Amino acid sequence: MLSFDNVSFAYGQHLVLKNISLQINKGEFLAIVGPNGSGKSNLSKLANGLIQPHLGKVLVDGVITQMPKSLREIRRLVGLIFQNPEDQFITTTVFDEVIFGLENIGVDPDKMKSIAEDALKKVEMLSYKGLEPHKLSGGQKQRVAIAAILAMKPKYIVFDESTAMLDPEGRQNIITLMQQLHTEGITIIHITHHMEEVLVATRVLVLKDGLIVADGTPASIFNNNIESNELEVPLALKLKQRLRSTGIKVPEQVMTLEGVVDYLWTSS
Ligand SMILES: Nc1ncnc2c1ncn2[C@@H]1O[C@H](COP(=O)(O)OP(=O)(O)OP(=O)(O)O)[C@@H](O)[C@H]1O
Ligand SMILES: [Mg+2]
Repeated sequence: MLSFDNVSFAYGQHLVLKNISLQINKGEFLAIVGPNGSGKSNLSKLANGLIQPHLGKVLVDGVITQMPKSLREIRRLVGLIFQNPEDQFITTTVFDEVIFGLENIGVDPDKMKSIAEDALKKVEMLSYKGLEPHKLSGGQKQRVAIAAILAMKPKYIVFDESTAMLDPEGRQNIITLMQQLHTEGITIIHITHHMEEVLVATRVLVLKDGLIVADGTPASIFNNNIESNELEVPLALKLKQRLRSTGIKVPEQVMTLEGVVDYLWTSS
């Protein structure tokens, strides 16, 4: 479990996270949304000890992130993927990029090659292993960054707007990969401004001005909190609400355009 206990974080006088208490259980697919500057990225950096709370504590599987000797293990357990993968590349080939992380955590050198190849295979990037990372497309770069994290066998992966710079197909590929990793048991935390992407989550958190202002299933968030949180409603839900207002009772649990179309087909 990832646990925030009364966590506050500030830059000088500017309090950017205000007494946050939050538990993220193993097996969740949590989406975090909220306006620019609401504190989402700071929350993700707190989750793996990249920054430390000024008040309160963050615990990863019961281990407090403030303990210097636990930091290496915490960073292995909680992988972070950023918006711009270039920011996290350090080596000159795709393969070395994955190996680099393994060297850092002291993996047996004999095992490194097969671990790195397995991770690259998982994201369908093995055939690019000799290439320079900066020569890849945005989506491919993101997949290499994910492979580098996967090689370290994380239990949690935080994607901080990792789909923001991708085209719709590239975005969908990353979402599909997140869903696959979630099915395989990795806890996913996905920070995004794309409301359609939130619908695949099991839970949604809305941050505003450093506070959690809503926490629930996608259906409950979009059905109840829309106006107060100024969220853009996904198209499928707008259509569902419009149909419901005209008396066509599309069920609450239908969350996708395909679902609405299926309902219309089968209900008439
Ligand atoms: N290095 C920094 N120095 C000073 N203030 C910072 C720094 N990093 C972030 N902040 C401030 O912290 C607040 C929260 O920032 P954060 O990056 O967590 O927001 P966010 O929700 O991730 O926003 P976005 O959607 O734009 O990514 C903002 O007001 C921001 O200006
Ligand atoms: Mg951010």
